[in-house]
Amino acid sequence: MGRLAGKVAVVFGGARGIGLATVREFVAEGATVFASDIREPESPVEGAQYSLADATDEEQVATFVAGALAAAGRIDVLVNNVGIHLAKPLAETTLAEFDNIFALNVRAAFLGTRAVLPHMIEQRAGSIVTTSSNGGMMGRPADPVYNATKHALVGLTKSIAVAHAHQGIRANTVNPGAIDTDMLRSTLASPDDFEARQHQLVASTPAARVGEAWEVAKAIVFLASDESRFISGAVLPVDGAKAAGAMPSNRYSLDFDLGVR
Ligand SMILES: NC(=O)c1ccc[n+]([C@@H]2O[C@H](COP(=O)([O-])OP(=O)(O)OC[C@H]3O[C@@H](n4cnc5c(N)ncnc54)[C@H](O)[C@@H]3O)[C@@H](O)[C@H]2O)c1
Repeated sequence: MGRLAGKVAVVFGGARGIGLATVREFVAEGATVFASDIREPESPVEGAQYSLADATDEEQVATFVAGALAAAGRIDVLVNNVGIHLAKPLAETTLAEFDNIFALNVRAAFLGTRAVLPHMIEQRAGSIVTTSSNGGMMGRPADPVYNATKHALVGLTKSIAVAHAHQGIRANTVNPGAIDTDMLRSTLASPDDFEARQHQLVASTPAARVGEAWEVAKAIVFLASDESRFISGAVLPVDGAKAAGAMPSNRYSLDFDLGVR
C-alpha cells in the first residue's frame, strides 16, 4: 500500500519542476491529487487532475480548492510550491520587483493555506508542506529579496504549526538547495560568466552536485504522510548539506578540483 493511500492532496505550482515531481510521487504513493498552476503541465501525470489557476488570485484559489473538495470530499495534504526567483542586489531592486515577488511567493502560500485550513480544522487533521529554500535558512548575497520571501514562508509555517497543532494539523517546510529545474536554469541562462556561476553553484554544495526535483518530492511525501505525524514546524533542508555550514575557502576558487564522488 502506498504511503499516501487514501489521502487527498492539493498541490499549487504542480506543472513543472519540484511541483510536477511531487504530483508524480504523490500519485505513485496512492494519493488522489488535484494540481494547479498558471501553465499546463509539462508532462501530465496520469491519474492527477489539473486545473489552471493563478495562485495569487483569491477567487481562482478558492474555486480550485472548492472543486477539489466537491470532487473528493476532503483535503488531507496541501503543498504550497509556487515560487519565482529574483537574483538582484538590494540596491538594484525596484519597488515593483519587491512587491511582485512578495505578492507571489508569500501571497500564494497565504491564500492557499487560508483556503484549505478551515477544512483541515473541521476534519481535525491535515498536513501542510511549503517549499521554502536554503535561502529561507541563511543570508545570501545574490538574492536578498527572494531570500526574505523564503524566510517569510518559514515564519508563516512555524506560526501555523504552533496555532493548529492541537487540531491535528501539521505545517512544515522543505528547503531545497540548488535543484535542476527551469527556475535554476533560467538563473544560469543569461550571465556571461556561465561556467563560473555553474562551478560556484556546485562548489558551494558540499555534495558537489545540484539536486533533482524528485529528491525534493520524496521529502515532501514524507512530510505529507503519517510517517511524520509528530513532526510540525520543521524546516527540512534538501540540499546536499549546503545549509549545514561553510566549507574551506579554497573550495570556492575556480580551480578547485571537485573530484568524482
Ligand atoms: N530549483 C531550485 O534550485 C530551488 C531552490 C530552492 C527553492 N526552490 C523553490 O521551489 C519551488 C519550485 O521551484 P522550481 O525550481 O520547481 O521552479 P519552476 O519555475 O520550475 O516551478 C514553479 C512553478 O510555479 C508555477 N507558478 C509560478 N507563478 C504561479 C502563479 N502565479 N500561480 C500558479 N502557479 C505559478 C510555475 O508555472 C511553475 O510550474 C519554488 O517555490 C522555488 O522558490 C527552488
